[in-house]
Amino acid sequence: MKTIADYIRTIPDFPHEGIMFRDVTTLFADPRGFRMAIDQMLHPYAGMRIDKVVGLEARGFIMGGAIAHQLSIGFVPIRKKGKLPGKTLSQDYKLEYGEATMEIHDDAIKPGEKVLVVDDLLATGGTAEAGIKLLTRLGAEIVSTSFIIDLPALGGRKKLEAMGLDVQILCEFDGL
Ligand code: PRP
Ligand code: MG
Repeated sequence: MKTIADYIRTIPDFPHEGIMFRDVTTLFADPRGFRMAIDQMLHPYAGMRIDKVVGLEARGFIMGGAIAHQLSIGFVPIRKKGKLPGKTLSQDYKLEYGEATMEIHDDAIKPGEKVLVVDDLLATGGTAEAGIKLLTRLGAEIVSTSFIIDLPALGGRKKLEAMGLDVQILCEFDGL
């Protein structure tokens, strides 16, 4: 039987020379692969109370929407700067080159709500950390974080675990 990693295509030298890009579009495009990924992401949370699923732009929206639908709960997006129309909180974070900013609507989560944070890939953890800071500022309780892929060489998982967060992943790839 195919594993999650088998459905993920690797594209060498994208977006820069030396980077092995882990492309989840091939996983999402396959009906068995997509269902397997959503089922595996849901598995650790069976019977747990979760109030909202929070997806990180852009690929976190794809699994986040499916997971929220399956749990019959709401979905909240964390978006790149300038995309959300209402009043927002902003959080800067570091990218490989330069900085970026994530935003959330300031009324998207009520204090004490239990949230699950979802994204496709954990690399340095900078994106997830920015999302978690926004959620913490809104008073959310972060039940867990869930990713399809972890790149252990980049240390994101260790960073999130050092923040006291639960981290669930479906597969790992070596290198960058
Ligand atoms: C990628 C990936 C994660 C993030 C992981 O997103 O989808 O969100 O990088 O990297 P990090 O752990 O080092 O922060 P990207 O910024 O390429 O944007 P996209 O999802 O909108 O394509
Ligand atoms: Mg992303």
